Amino acid sequence: MSDYQFWSSRYKQQASWTRQTRNFIINQISLSLQANILEVGCGSSAVLDEFTESGQNTVGVDIDFQILKYSIQNSSKARLINGDGLSLPLKNNFFDLCFCHYLLLWIDDPVRILKEMSRVTKKSGWICCFAEPDYLSRIDHPSPLDQLGQMQNSSLSTQGVNLSTGRKLTYWMMQTGLSNIHWGILGSHQKVENNTTNAASEWETIQRDLEVLYPEEEILKFKEIEYKAQTQGIRILFIPTFYAYAQK
Ligand SMILES: C[S@@+](CC[C@H](N)C(=O)[O-])C[C@H]1O[C@@H](n2cnc3c(N)ncnc32)[C@H](O)[C@@H]1O
Repeated sequence: MSDYQFWSSRYKQQASWTRQTRNFIINQISLSLQANILEVGCGSSAVLDEFTESGQNTVGVDIDFQILKYSIQNSSKARLINGDGLSLPLKNNFFDLCFCHYLLLWIDDPVRILKEMSRVTKKSGWICCFAEPDYLSRIDHPSPLDQLGQMQNSSLSTQGVNLSTGRKLTYWMMQTGLSNIHWGILGSHQKVENNTTNAASEWETIQRDLEVLYPEEEILKFKEIEYKAQTQGIRILFIPTFYAYAQK
């Protein structure tokens, strides 16, 4: 599986986990049927395509040209632009909703990106951060999978991820000058099952993150423990994932 295939299917999976919260937020902000909607850091358009399919006028911006190409080949119908969210190639005051999903954790200066998102949004339009994780408050169980969790955090941090993004969203929105700010944490209802497909997908994600920092032998020591815990249904992996939305 190519990297783009892997990440695209991972983004689809994440988009399905966050759909319920997204629908809740969309109900709160009541958009018109043909709203102008922008996603910054759209990746393979997993979330953006939902808005496109419901008939809205959608634009996606991503800094990675190859993922946009992959997205078009996989029939995304949104207008996709290769650009940097820190300096959006778009005019002022156009969008009714400008959102991001698993973006700010990767950004050194998130307030600058939020200010750009605000600039291109109409007055009283909405800025939504649909999902941003807070890895520093993760729960991993049973032991020694807590060590695996800490290794993944170190590896993500080495790749430039801000591990406490979730808890900072509202403060960043205030610094951006937004009003009517709301925030929350995605619920985590789960059914216990011995799910080997889920175990394989979770393991592949963790392994890809860890490879950046750790030798293969050290990573593989945890593989059997992870699979055993997943298939017994006793693995708890909870990374609080925050959302926040506000008006310009
Ligand atoms: C974790 S992915 C999430 C993709 C998509 N939002 C989703 O949830 O399916 C983060 C995306 O943000 C993009 N990105 C990172 N920094 C960016 C920047 N400064 N401007 C625009 N896109 C950026 C990456 O290329 C990547 O596609």
